[in-house]
Amino acid sequence: MLTFLHISDTHISADPEYGPHWLRKPLAQPNLGVESLLEAINRLPFAVDFILHTGDVCAEPEAENYHLARELLDRLEQPLYLLPGNHDSAQMTREMLADGERRQVLGDDHKIINGCHLITVDISGADNPLTPTLPDGQIDHFAAQLNEAQEGPILVAAHHPFLPTGVPWIDDEARIQNGERLHELLVARRERVAGVFFGHIHQVATSYSDGITYNCCPSTWFNFTGYPGMESADADLDTPGGFNLVMIRENRSFVRRYSLPPA
Ligand SMILES: [Fe+2]
Repeated sequence: MLTFLHISDTHISADPEYGPHWLRKPLAQPNLGVESLLEAINRLPFAVDFILHTGDVCAEPEAENYHLARELLDRLEQPLYLLPGNHDSAQMTREMLADGERRQVLGDDHKIINGCHLITVDISGADNPLTPTLPDGQIDHFAAQLNEAQEGPILVAAHHPFLPTGVPWIDDEARIQNGERLHELLVARRERVAGVFFGHIHQVATSYSDGITYNCCPSTWFNFTGYPGMESADADLDTPGGFNLVMIRENRSFVRRYSLPPA
């Protein structure tokens, strides 16, 4: 019915030395992970309907990064749907990465693909892109899009997680602060919600709440760790970057992780 790849947090940078110094850990330059990703995708022995990128396409909102991102992403043959993340400029993502057909930048959108509804949440206009609180009007728009999706599976994509996890740095510093309101709208249609797909927290994480499954895919660059009581983010250098394969078949969803070789 629907087969796609979920990728996230590529943090493409034209700076060969790029890295977050606050982590004080030796991280590979993020473009190396993107090169591995492109090779891994081009080797896959099956076709996908599209690739979903849940944001942080570039490391910083600078034109040279988007020029490089365009060059790299041009090597993908599949349709690509991009959601801007908190590190992106939504305007540059739209102007420099969308090509009007194969590569689209999504906002608060509703796309119907093979009978499935892909509904996206855009944080680029939020008060604080790191820990956004969505305005009432945006939540009403999300509800209206769900109402339009009368038949078939519903998939939701966003950059940030919606619900508290029990990991303080994620809950307080990396989540849509009123994501519970989106969750309540999904619970009302839970028989048809095939999954919520997000990135931002750079780790493979699955949670299940009130019948809704939430899937975070790894970054292609580096992952963060998350555990009970963890107050601030820290890199998990033991876990490789990667991406997820998602299959939607009738009322079932199957998510499989692919790991990338260490950079
Ligand atoms: Fe990120």
